[in-house]
Amino acid sequence: MRKQIVAGNWKMNKTESETIQLINELKQQDLNSEVEVFIAPTYVNLSAAVKSTTSSEIRIAAQNMHQSASGAYTGEISAGMLQDIGVEHVILGHSERRAYFGETDELLKEKVKAALEAGLGVIFCFGEELEERKSDTHFDVVKQQLSTALFDLDATQWPQIVLAYEPVWAIGTGETASPEQAQEMHAFIRSLIREHYDYACADGVSILYGGSVKPANATEIFAQADVDGGLIGGASLQAEDFAAIVNGF
Ligand code: PGA
Repeated sequence: MRKQIVAGNWKMNKTESETIQLINELKQQDLNSEVEVFIAPTYVNLSAAVKSTTSSEIRIAAQNMHQSASGAYTGEISAGMLQDIGVEHVILGHSERRAYFGETDELLKEKVKAALEAGLGVIFCFGEELEERKSDTHFDVVKQQLSTALFDLDATQWPQIVLAYEPVWAIGTGETASPEQAQEMHAFIRSLIREHYDYACADGVSILYGGSVKPANATEIFAQADVDGGLIGGASLQAEDFAAIVNGF
């Protein structure tokens, strides 16, 4: 049985005190216990977030990390550092990292490897841009992203991977892929993994949808056969909205 997961990507939002406050508000919500819930605050607030969630089921993810274990990389953070403060997962490949910080699938391949070696789970983001969908190349783009970054992994490493399909045109735009568009792509992704690995691998991996998910559309999207949850940006910054999405299953 694959897991149902809802992850909140807080991006560059919330100070430490606001982080603790939002976590406290989330802890007061009645969250569906069948759903694994992650939040991803900024680096500087990860420790506070880990401490604030010790008595809850909410798990903490980082939004990024460097591919090296240590060294002269001013301003960077390693997988081991995250692991050491109690972070269990890291988001890699978010479209904002790709667009604004030049992250490529070649680089992400290294980051994924480093994260897994340090014992972190990976929430791997990918998805096509608007022009690619318009020119009907979205399936090829997604195939290329996954094969470059992930298909060198051993099948035994896949239980540590969560996939997050996020069409770039739907992120922060208010425009959501239709439930049918999400299902079509998620089924395609699962078929790629089945072809490259096997049924067990493909059927075991959770594939999240991300891009303008909100309380009003979560239930319909999560109801699709191959959609196992969501990666939530804007709507994760508000406890009631995030809880409503978690409870949208
Ligand atoms: P959004 O962001 O929900 O605000 O569209 C999703 C994401 O960036 O993961």
